[in-house]
Amino acid sequence: MTQSAIPRPFQRVLTGITTTGTLHLGNYVGAVRPAIAASQEPGVESFFFMADYHALIKCDDPERINRSRLEIAAVWLAAGLDTSRVTFYRQSDIPEIPELTWLLTCVTSKGQMNRAHAYKGAVDANVAAGEDPDAGITMGLYSYPILMAADILMFNAHRVPVGRDQVQHIEMARDVAQRFNHLFGQGKEFFVLPEANVEEDVALLPGLDGRKMSKSYDNSVPLFEGGAKGLKDAIARIVTDSKLPGEPKEPEGQTLVTIYDAFATAAQRQQFRADLRAGLAWGEAKQQLFELIDAEIAPLRSRFEALMAQPELIEATLQAGAAKARAVAAPLLAELRQAVGLRNFSAPAVVAAPVKHAKAALPVFKQFREADGQFYFKLNAADGSLLLQSSGFAGGRDAGQWVARLKREGAAALAAAPVHLAPGINNAAVLEALAALLAAEAE
Ligand code: TRP
Repeated sequence: MTQSAIPRPFQRVLTGITTTGTLHLGNYVGAVRPAIAASQEPGVESFFFMADYHALIKCDDPERINRSRLEIAAVWLAAGLDTSRVTFYRQSDIPEIPELTWLLTCVTSKGQMNRAHAYKGAVDANVAAGEDPDAGITMGLYSYPILMAADILMFNAHRVPVGRDQVQHIEMARDVAQRFNHLFGQGKEFFVLPEANVEEDVALLPGLDGRKMSKSYDNSVPLFEGGAKGLKDAIARIVTDSKLPGEPKEPEGQTLVTIYDAFATAAQRQQFRADLRAGLAWGEAKQQLFELIDAEIAPLRSRFEALMAQPELIEATLQAGAAKARAVAAPLLAELRQAVGLRNFSAPAVVAAPVKHAKAALPVFKQFREADGQFYFKLNAADGSLLLQSSGFAGGRDAGQWVARLKREGAAALAAAPVHLAPGINNAAVLEALAALLAAEAE
């Protein structure tokens, strides 16, 4: 059979944007532009949404919440999102999401939520400040990963493009999906296990001072705010070295050049470097950078302004998106309600036939990368609960080699492995899991 005779399975890609502020040029280059480009690939079905329930966790200013979701929706539409191809909606328009959140909450272990980076970070900060560990921490923050799991699992997304700081959340979504499938699926997989997509080579746009572009550093370039003048003024503030006009300048590592690259063709990049090496003045270079960015952004800016003047149009677009999303969410949720036992009494009682598992579930090793950039692995029991987790490794290979050794050598390797057992788990339980893996391998 030739390759082309096999239909390529479609890929569902989903991502959410927390609506607490406005978007800057870095968000456009790092998130909006690549997501829209990816949504145009054949075989991809995209779901993009405003994570406005998540925004409530971080912000209690109603005006700001509402303004932000309107602006962010307008940015995506102005940037060319094709809502006939993409399902584009507000999280808060999908009541199935909070309902699924509860079903998932009931099968999520508290211990796992204790280990979530955002919560742990907040606790650590409290402890360091001599406060009660949970001071100022809401249940919203604590349960954040479960709501996010519901966002993803509700639509059975295969791929979730996110920043590195969100990878742990996707891991948690996989774990809870697995547990739910195992507990209620009777052999059926209700949920697809999602994969995080961390775009390694999407340029992280530096801010004006060369640090990461961020509102909190006051170094960001506004996307549309302030119009062309706002863009020009921000570019004027980009930090350069103090070389004079006519002096040769080393382009590599210059913030201005890195930003230029994000909008330029290969030929333009080369020319810009050559001109700087030949002594192009920084002032002139900034003018060229402004013109380059404005050529791409100006048409978007005028579409954005037109949209912002017609919020009812955005509302209608999002309502249509919500209807499309709910057409996917509602049937799945109905199935899940059945599965957990929330059934209609007047419907004929269905006694589920016992389903034989084709294969007994097995423990699984999983490798992943954390926000600290290190590589880790863990071992989950067949029911999805955590048995052990490794220390961090500088390279993915090191983690992989330990996994291979543990699978091959069992007890002998466990004694030497840089791992710690999960709370309440003893060596015997781990050895039993390793033995089960070994036996399955031998079959
Ligand atoms: N937590 C994400 C962030 O802060 C936003 C988000 C919410 C999200 N739900 C999601 C991203 C589901 C991907 C999938 O960036």
